Amino acid sequence: MDARVTTELTFDVDAWSAKHLNRIERALERWVTAEVCADVAYGAPMTLIEAMRYAVLDGGKRLRPLLVLAAWEAVRGEAPSADDHEAPLRAACALELIHAYSLVHDDMPCMDNDVLRRGKPTVHVKFGQASALLAGDALQALAFELLTPTQGIPADQQARLCGLLARAAGHSGMVGGQAIDLASVGVPLTEHQLRDMHRLKTGALLQASVCMGAACGNPSAVAQTALQTYGAALGLAFQVVDDILDVTADSATLGKTAGKDASQDKPTYVSILGLARSTAYAQELLAQALAALAQSGLSHTQALQGLAKKVVNRSC
Ligand code: IPE
Ligand code: IPE
Ligand code: MG
Ligand code: MG
Ligand code: MG
Repeated sequence: MDARVTTELTFDVDAWSAKHLNRIERALERWVTAEVCADVAYGAPMTLIEAMRYAVLDGGKRLRPLLVLAAWEAVRGEAPSADDHEAPLRAACALELIHAYSLVHDDMPCMDNDVLRRGKPTVHVKFGQASALLAGDALQALAFELLTPTQGIPADQQARLCGLLARAAGHSGMVGGQAIDLASVGVPLTEHQLRDMHRLKTGALLQASVCMGAACGNPSAVAQTALQTYGAALGLAFQVVDDILDVTADSATLGKTAGKDASQDKPTYVSILGLARSTAYAQELLAQALAALAQSGLSHTQALQGLAKKVVNRSC
């Protein structure tokens, strides 16, 4: 058996994740404290800082940061240099900050009006609506601050990473998808329209995680295209499974309110395809994601493979 096949058989994605989660948590703790607290000197109320930390720390699967690091590992291959962690770690945390801000706003009364997130009261329940709104705004800005340090990442790479994140987060990505979501309450979408909405509101940031991790290295054009395809399939699969879990799991397991989509009359994969076809579709998307990796020409895709399987087969 050749060495590569042996590695694939023995790769433990949970052990890989645990190792990287440790670095991600420490970095988030550092960056949503030190740099933010510097602002306190200029008078930002402590409530804002507390709300930002509450939204980001102590919870969340950290899938987006893990995807950044897994994609970077795939393109970096066998040639890690001693000081090349800065860009991928900053990109990983920037993605998590945008994601955390999207959750804070998603839960507000003007959107999904939810009271439970990551097993805790939502940010607006704990701190009030104005603080939740501002904490989300500040997290979004902080994400771009992380990507533009005065040293440690070359200027052209900073620009590339900022562009990828801005496009995935804004009107043609996550925010655009959220706007479609709000406009679709009680509206019978076609499967095609639903897929477009999910690709934007959730898929865009997940695909960007993969593309930003890759942009921290120098992938070939073939690898880049394959990773984009992987990210698109995984991103859509993630929201298909989110729709399924909203129906099949309980609030304690999810750490957020179960049954929310039906109670708010949201179009979802379950409401349009039913549970069995939605489950089969998630598996089909997993197969597409894995097939893309197989065609990438990259030999260190074990973490990306493992994360895709975890996303589709997860229970929370
Ligand atoms: C929940 O995302 C919101 C969606 C995009 C469906 P996650 O399930 O990744 O939430 P956390 O980060 O683990 O809390
Ligand atoms: C939210 O989708 C996607 C975001 C951009 C935050 P959902 O509204 O289904 O996410 P949950 O189920 O509340 O986590
Ligand atoms: Mg929502
Ligand atoms: Mg929601
Ligand atoms: Mg949901």
